[in-house]
Amino acid sequence: MAEIVKTVYEHHPYPPRKKEDVFKRGYLSTLPIINAIFWGGKRDLDNCVFVDVGCGTGDNTMDMADHLRETSAKVIGLDISKSALDIAKERAKRVGLENIEWIEGSLLNIEEYGISADYLICCSVLPHLDNPDEGFAVLSKAIKKDGGAGFKIYGKYGRWPVHLMQKVWGVINRNVKDEEERFRNAAQIVSLLPSFHPYKRIPVKYTIDLRYDALLLNHTKPYSVLDIYETLDKAGLKLVRFREMARYRPETYLGNRFEKQISSLDEKEYYHLGEMLNGTIPHHTFFACPRDFTPFEQNPENEEAVPFFPRSPASNFEAVPPDKSIVIDLKRGRMNYRIIVPPQFREVFSLINGENKVKDVLEELRAKDEEKAERFWKTFSRALVDLDLLFLKRP
Ligand SMILES: C[S@@+](CC[C@H](N)C(=O)[O-])C[C@H]1O[C@@H](n2cnc3c(N)ncnc32)[C@H](O)[C@@H]1O
Repeated sequence: MAEIVKTVYEHHPYPPRKKEDVFKRGYLSTLPIINAIFWGGKRDLDNCVFVDVGCGTGDNTMDMADHLRETSAKVIGLDISKSALDIAKERAKRVGLENIEWIEGSLLNIEEYGISADYLICCSVLPHLDNPDEGFAVLSKAIKKDGGAGFKIYGKYGRWPVHLMQKVWGVINRNVKDEEERFRNAAQIVSLLPSFHPYKRIPVKYTIDLRYDALLLNHTKPYSVLDIYETLDKAGLKLVRFREMARYRPETYLGNRFEKQISSLDEKEYYHLGEMLNGTIPHHTFFACPRDFTPFEQNPENEEAVPFFPRSPASNFEAVPPDKSIVIDLKRGRMNYRIIVPPQFREVFSLINGENKVKDVLEELRAKDEEKAERFWKTFSRALVDLDLLFLKRP
């Protein structure tokens, strides 16, 4: 099985990138966000070690290395596929990134490389292992006690039509060894599916790419929120936050109905309910850390915390007349979110400047409208934090 994975990624380095392609910015590799989430923005990145496990053709590795150009931090990209690493190395060279060490090998042997990571990314890799839970456990040992990790794995409910098709392809290709023939068979089956088949109805981006999904047969293990909690716990880790927490909150779908039932749930049941109510979450992207470490809480009601925008969510709002509300409409996956800023609070965007504390922002808002300020801040800041647009750090 591990051989199949290695062969597929050796023949088809992922993501498919040419040597001259510029790297992409990634969520799990954005250093200001990582620093805020784990260390309240106070980690001195200079002597830190950042590792991209199963780095493929190098997008996340390069993104981190680019953030860290001016530091003496060490960035490591590790992958089992030599051809993927060759592309990654060439791409990094072209953009002058000299702060990356590349390791060709299996993550299961990470201990041999003596890695002790401040932060480790493992994006769309672990589900391909024979035993993904073993992967979590091995990686857990390579993270410092006060370190963090970012993972992306496949969702059990949102991506189920792909997992269903992997079973179909597995049956048809059971005795087919040739990779091209297996792929041709898989593509032909897809073309013959009736239009009502769930696989025909899912957005293309829910699949990695027909070639990878089909060739990796039924070897991509999907996870529900409950599975994630159980697996992290076994590995000595705990969840810090999901990407786009809003999707995992039952209130996003149920509003203030069923409040009593929802408030009786523990954390994992609560987010699992959100996942089931959404029903289409194809991947789970999340941050985790060692069980005994307490990362900085992303709580916008902590008046001592300093809120900041990694990117401004309201770059076009200058065009709104001063007496009108600013309306931010966001589309994320299949969800639409709307955030409204009444005219008297429009200054909130400039008050969030990475220096003011929450209490400074609140004070200014209260001066505009004593009665509504608190309530506005609560709704506004929570919505932005849940959509990964606003983060908090220590003063
Ligand atoms: C879907 S790609 C993801 C690439 C990259 N992390 C990204 O998200 O763009 C999976 C990568 O994991 C690598 N991989 C699979 N099993 C591995 C293992 N046991 N050790 C290290 N890398 C592995 C593959 O070679 C491939 O490059």
